[in-house]
Amino acid sequence: MDKLIIEGGMPLQGEVQIAGAKNAALPLMAAALLADGQTTLHNMPSLVDVKTMARVIDWTGAKTTFENGSLTIDASDINRIEAPYELVKTMRASFYMLGALLGRAGEAKVSLPGGCAWGPRPVDIHLSGMRALGAEIELDQGYIIAKGPLRGNNVVLDFPSVGATVNLLLAAVRAEGETVLENVAREPEITSLVSMLNSMGARITGERTSTLKIHGVDSLHAVTETVIPDRIEAGTYLVAAALTAGDVTLKSAEPEHLTMVLAKAAEAGVKFTVTTDGIRVEGRGALRAVDVETAVYPGFPTDMQAQWMTLMTGADGVSLVVDTIYQDRFAHVSELQRLGARVSMKENVARIHGPVRMRGAQVMSTDLRASASLVIAALAAEGTTEISRIYHLDRGYENLESKLEMLGAKIKRVSD
Ligand code: UD1
Repeated sequence: MDKLIIEGGMPLQGEVQIAGAKNAALPLMAAALLADGQTTLHNMPSLVDVKTMARVIDWTGAKTTFENGSLTIDASDINRIEAPYELVKTMRASFYMLGALLGRAGEAKVSLPGGCAWGPRPVDIHLSGMRALGAEIELDQGYIIAKGPLRGNNVVLDFPSVGATVNLLLAAVRAEGETVLENVAREPEITSLVSMLNSMGARITGERTSTLKIHGVDSLHAVTETVIPDRIEAGTYLVAAALTAGDVTLKSAEPEHLTMVLAKAAEAGVKFTVTTDGIRVEGRGALRAVDVETAVYPGFPTDMQAQWMTLMTGADGVSLVVDTIYQDRFAHVSELQRLGARVSMKENVARIHGPVRMRGAQVMSTDLRASASLVIAALAAEGTTEISRIYHLDRGYENLESKLEMLGAKIKRVSD
């Protein structure tokens, strides 16, 4: 297994190109299955999760080709309506195949998902929504077997789940009649999916709001789309620049998608300016302790919680970091403590005492964003940090080492 060795203490400096968003790319890939033709997606991040999703799509008989940051998906022929366990277990978003295959073929057999392991991550909202649309759903040996035909209906989500919103949209666009989805997620990744589906010929209104109205259509056509920039990758480099007292321009970052993160950063004393093609972060001056509580968009993203906690280790005062979306998403705490962070936990509330200057140590990466928080901590720490089990990072950060090296970091990947 690969490890990262990072020698800390260097301010990050220069420009970093923010990649296309993983969490936007995956739903667009699933949506391509709804069209009988060849879809092209530009600005695709080269990530393990994207490759896994491509394998899931290939399994159905559709053909994917990835070249120079663009992915083509030819879904002219679909001959299997299945997403197998071996692929789905590694990535939760492959559960989008349920909506995509139901929408395309009126039936689906999809393994229950895996993905980042923090606490229970149920799919009850996905399934009750599908049932409300008329799907017959059975669980058989770890597989969800779903059968249409789907009919439009009013569905109120118990919680604005991102994944359930994606799945229900994919299923409802080809259902007969009108569907109203209430209390849906409003993340930019959902807006980008709605926009692609409408370009494909779907009739969805209510974009960016918590109620989406979908008028089912008989067929959808293939389109060319560009994946939106990754707000979480941008936020991660923002924190790394601020904590290392660096000066980094996040090229192509979209400030509109980062409103809450930028507001909190400003409160914490991080200096940044929005430029014509991104955000410049200047890590000068002291950082102040600022509390955050994760919430659904446009609230503070749970996917930035671990990175924010790392930033707060260098801020003056006591800050609270509360995760209300995933109550158990705190595996990074014990590893940050190994680096010298002063963090105490009570239920889903972390209390961080700062500022401390962290010192290099051996730590272990546990999930995608926790791993990112350890990389940031290592970049700011005095001395050398060794991070093991870094395969999580390859799921969600494109060319992490080379991007950091270009910013002046001393980082290398070694195999055991
Ligand atoms: C997506 C993101 C993930 C992010 C999360 C929250 C992708 C591929 N992943 O995950 O990076 O951390 O949004 O912003 O886009 N829930 C239920 N029942 C369900 C579905 C969800 O109780 O059927 C709960 C979850 O346990 C969690 C909350 O709803 O507490 C949010 O989950 P959800 O928005 O569905 O997250 P994902 O789509 O899995």
